[in-house]
Amino acid sequence: MTRPIQHLVVGMTGGIAAYKTAELVRLLVKQGIRVDVVMTSAATRFITPLTMQALSGRPVYTDLWDERIANGMPHIELSRQADAILVAPASADFMAKLVHGAADDLLSTLCLARDCPLIVAPAMNRQMWEHPATQRNVAQLQKDGVRLIGPDSGEQACGETGLGRMLEPQSIVDALQVTCPSNLLAGKRILITAGPTIEAIDPVRGITNFSSGKMGYAIAQTAIEMGADVTLISGPTALAAPHCTTIQVTSAQQMHDAVMAEVIGQDVFIAVAAVADYRPREVQSQKIKKHADTLQLDLVRNPDILAAVTSLPRPPFCVGFAAESGHLLDHAHKKRLQKNVPLLAANLVSEAMGGDDSRIVLIDDQGEHPLPPGSKTMLAHMLLQHMAGMLPPSTTSDASTPE
Ligand code: C5P
Repeated sequence: MTRPIQHLVVGMTGGIAAYKTAELVRLLVKQGIRVDVVMTSAATRFITPLTMQALSGRPVYTDLWDERIANGMPHIELSRQADAILVAPASADFMAKLVHGAADDLLSTLCLARDCPLIVAPAMNRQMWEHPATQRNVAQLQKDGVRLIGPDSGEQACGETGLGRMLEPQSIVDALQVTCPSNLLAGKRILITAGPTIEAIDPVRGITNFSSGKMGYAIAQTAIEMGADVTLISGPTALAAPHCTTIQVTSAQQMHDAVMAEVIGQDVFIAVAAVADYRPREVQSQKIKKHADTLQLDLVRNPDILAAVTSLPRPPFCVGFAAESGHLLDHAHKKRLQKNVPLLAANLVSEAMGGDDSRIVLIDDQGEHPLPPGSKTMLAHMLLQHMAGMLPPSTTSDASTPE
């Protein structure tokens, strides 16, 4: 996609998230985007074509044999003028059909016969999403150049909680606004840290922070969609691992060791993790009992992982984050210079930590680049696009040897 979307085919498959697509279409139309809705017969069980027609202001198509298209070939004609096809909600079954090139209804045939990008917003129960068959399909779709946006995690219509819900309509609109050549980071090896660390005090207690890991996981997912070979090193989070090599760690020292073991040959290192700066000097082997009114912990500094990477003889291109509670830009500028990173993403803790949305200012040699506030997925796209523009044409570092 090289220009903002002006004409979209929105395909709907059978899922309760279809109600969100009604709002999505309303938001898209409000932005002046022409939306042609195509529904599978299962989708029409959840929401009526009449509703989608009223919201899109255009005819809705459900039938491969629809005679309203002049040449009688809606499966060809509908996508020819479109900038993209967005399938939202995309059910597990529909994704499986896409993988196999099935074409037994209008929407699947349209997707197979398209000459424009295909974007899918999965929506399903968490067990269905996590099932190896679905995950195989996700990997295949990504290989086939299909862009996945979402899914999100949280409460599901079935009453369970987990990964699989369709992204909120505004987050989908945000993600669509970002023009994203799907191969922008093709061939790049990218190492990402995400989430918090936990520093053990005794066998049952630890020191941690409120990082959810959502920003780091959004960057990992988006980098995968842009064609990168991603390795994610994650502290403990409630998020499902994206489809890449993922190394789970707990403490800052473990994260440091994992990064140093993986950094050789990486083109890019993005340090998103909220790493604990201090850890207890000693981890008590027995649970500390309460006796006195006060208890003092003796803390020692943890290694600074990002600084360790930037001081390698041949570091990869490094991106740092600065989460501040005040004086954001002052601290961020200083941090960029201290840690010697070409690109730093600064955000306020109050606007970033834990939530789905954030507000980021990118800082590089050229100065400050404030990004519009929005979903972490949208910000991940913008950050990676900005970063891609800063990478030397071939950045493959051949011998970054940890000290
Ligand atoms: O110094 P501060 O913790 O604010 O720096 C934040 C940046 O440094 C983030 O990119 C974070 O991932 C990274 N960092 C690190 N190792 C530490 C502390 C921070 O990699 N011990």
